[in-house]
Amino acid sequence: MEKTVIAYYTGTGNTLALAKRIKGAELVDIIRINEGDAVLDDDITRLGIFFPVYMGGVPYPVREFINDTLKDRDNSSLQYVFSLITCGSGGKNAEWMLDRSLQEIGIGLSYSLSIRYPDSYLPLIRRVPDEKKTKEILSKAEERIKKAIEDIEKEEIKLPGKPLFGKLMSKMAGKTGPGAKDKKMSVGDDCIRCGICASICPSGNIKMVGKKAEIGDECLHCYACYNYCPQKAIKYEGRNDHYKGLVKPEELRRR
Ligand SMILES: Cc1cc2nc3c(=O)[nH]c(=O)nc-3n(C[C@H](O)[C@H](O)[C@H](O)COP(=O)(O)O)c2cc1C
Ligand code: SF4
Ligand code: SF4
Repeated sequence: MEKTVIAYYTGTGNTLALAKRIKGAELVDIIRINEGDAVLDDDITRLGIFFPVYMGGVPYPVREFINDTLKDRDNSSLQYVFSLITCGSGGKNAEWMLDRSLQEIGIGLSYSLSIRYPDSYLPLIRRVPDEKKTKEILSKAEERIKKAIEDIEKEEIKLPGKPLFGKLMSKMAGKTGPGAKDKKMSVGDDCIRCGICASICPSGNIKMVGKKAEIGDECLHCYACYNYCPQKAIKYEGRNDHYKGLVKPEELRRR
């Protein structure tokens, strides 16, 4: 019997919104898998690996998932492995990097596609997309999304080609991960200690210890906390532009 599971990593929710569009698939959060709070069943026949491009490549939690969970698992039931990747500008290298990482552990990728979504990576974006811009980007992406859904349903084969400077870019992306404090980010006194930021942070980097949320130094720089804080209490260098996000904060809850 066919069983489709999508293992997804998302920071600000774009990738989760995309994964939700694949009908009949069970969605499992890669962070929960990595933390031992969720497992991949043994009888999966179709496995999706969905994530955003980070620094031109595959984000650290997804690399950890491949090199730990997938590597140590019996993958013989997998017949079709597919990946949709969200990005701000381009995801060709991330597709290629994923394919190579999977090959290294003996898994063949059958299909991959990267799709442009709203980008809210604060260090490089002057203003995050407002609602109008978000609608524009999503409407441009729609055709590609529909095609991807159709392709996956039909189990089409589409393999990533080798991008220019692929090895170098993948090497650089492969070095990124948690471990640096985001010095530009802070928590204001308007924090009401609701705990949302701590519950959605993919690296468990926010603790509710004192009078307000406390950000540690294991940041993945996803800016989910900044964008989803209901009080806008998480500050980033005096900015006031926030990405509304495509899912509810409850859907991003990990702890
Ligand atoms: C840390 C970080 C690095 C990023 N690097 C890239 C990049 O190199 N290329 C790109 O096209 N988009 C990049 N983006 C944009 C995201 O890939 C894009 O906004 C994605 O849809 C976010 O998905 P999410 O909401 O599921 O986290 C980056 C975003 C973050 C947070
Ligand atoms: S989400 Fe905002 S208000 Fe809630 S605990 Fe975090 S910083 Fe405070
Ligand atoms: S502290 Fe904020 S920006 Fe850093 S990983 Fe957690 S949610 Fe993302």
